[in-house]
Amino acid sequence: MTSFDDAYELRTFPAAIDDDATAAWFAACRLGFHESIDTPEGVAGDARRTVADARVLTGAWPREPRPGTLDDEQWPVATFESFERTLHVGGGTLLPAHLISGVTVQPTHRRRGILRRMMTDDLARAAEAGLAVAALTASEASIYRRFGFGTATRERTVTIDRRRPVRLLGPTTGTVELVPTARLEPVAREVFARFHARTPGSIDRPVGSWDRRLGLATGEDQKPDRSLRGAVHRASSGRVDGYVVYRVTEKPTETVLEVTDLVTATDEAYLALWELLLAIDLVTSITWAAAPLDDPLVHALEDARALSTTHEQDHVWLRLLDVPAAFSARPWAADGVVTVAVSDDLGHAAGTWRLTSAGGAGTVERAAVRRADLEVDVATLGSLWLGGVDPVTLAAAGLVRERRAGAVQTLRSMLRPERPLYGVTSF
Ligand SMILES: CC(C)(COP(=O)(O)OP(=O)(O)OC[C@H]1O[C@@H](n2cnc3c(N)ncnc32)[C@H](O)[C@@H]1OP(=O)(O)O)[C@@H](O)C(=O)NCCC(=O)NCCS
Repeated sequence: MTSFDDAYELRTFPAAIDDDATAAWFAACRLGFHESIDTPEGVAGDARRTVADARVLTGAWPREPRPGTLDDEQWPVATFESFERTLHVGGGTLLPAHLISGVTVQPTHRRRGILRRMMTDDLARAAEAGLAVAALTASEASIYRRFGFGTATRERTVTIDRRRPVRLLGPTTGTVELVPTARLEPVAREVFARFHARTPGSIDRPVGSWDRRLGLATGEDQKPDRSLRGAVHRASSGRVDGYVVYRVTEKPTETVLEVTDLVTATDEAYLALWELLLAIDLVTSITWAAAPLDDPLVHALEDARALSTTHEQDHVWLRLLDVPAAFSARPWAADGVVTVAVSDDLGHAAGTWRLTSAGGAGTVERAAVRRADLEVDVATLGSLWLGGVDPVTLAAAGLVRERRAGAVQTLRSMLRPERPLYGVTSF
């Protein structure tokens, strides 16, 4: 039987500008995500962004290309990329995280173990480099658990019916101003940095994503998206502490205001920007695909039923590579001691660990006990780690097995985050 290495060559290389391998990798990745193959301007834009993030690309090339097929293009038949950004783990601590993206395998090469090989090699390199955690967002929810990733945060789409009364119950402070999106970038980056520094679960945005995010260079010609509008909130001190980007689209029976980005560094900015959005005339509904799960707006609206959650799904998946480093980086909400036995097919997190917290700090060490208080697999540990998913809920789901009565409750109080986990970064 032909072995994997007889069939494919895996190449891992840094993304580069004006580089044939990088351009071929982009084309293959777009093929995998059903996107049209890019123009030279689009490739140049992608290369600029990818290099700005120091992304490392992996491709799989067949050792025996078949003439007369896509193989003639020299595109890889599978793609995978990774790069480093910080993850807010609570208490203002930003921990370097290994981000994975661009995962595709051509349909004619599926289920031959290419993803498994790219993933296991990449995670091993990240662990070797000292990264304590890997993160990804998934286009399908059934792929990544087998590699040790568990859902840590969720994303929620909301729709607000503007035909209902949409006043806020309390007064807002500061001022809001409309601004051209072309002028937003420096201020948006600064607001995001403050949002990131105060929000557990947030992942720093890719450096190269801002022009697309603010609609400054989009589509085949990399021109500005002229349908976008922007606004900022200025605190009483005069400092900008929030911004929103949106577009209004006329549909046959309604006019929809779509929020494409809303980032705030303070609660005041969040409410005041919503007050602005709710006051925009000639709009029948407002949609936003990155609303927090625990949304202050639900409570701030006079008629809370004007707001409905139209979609909710997994957002960021986390995979622990170094259990002591990951757990000692985060703050602890209550004192306690719990032993946890972790199973991990890839080995990185496997073992029995004693988690001890006292006075807000924690230590994690290997424990030599016959039976641990709790048993989980590494994917469940990824869901538990930052406190985004309640251990009580995971126990009810059959994913946390309690061997000492009360251990789940103890872990729950130890891991409770200071604010609900949330993030507005896609990667
Ligand atoms: C998803 C995808 C990357 C899988 O690649 P692949 O090379 O076929 O995967 P492998 O052969 O290495 O399979 C690895 C394991 O994952 C499983 N698996 C792969 N794709 C799966 C899917 N879509 N749903 C459920 N399980 C899947 C395989 O059965 C295999 O399981 P096992 O190792 O426990 O036996 C590929 O089908 C693809 O490119 N899809 C379109 C793009 C996409 O969805 N990318 C994901 C972006 S987040």
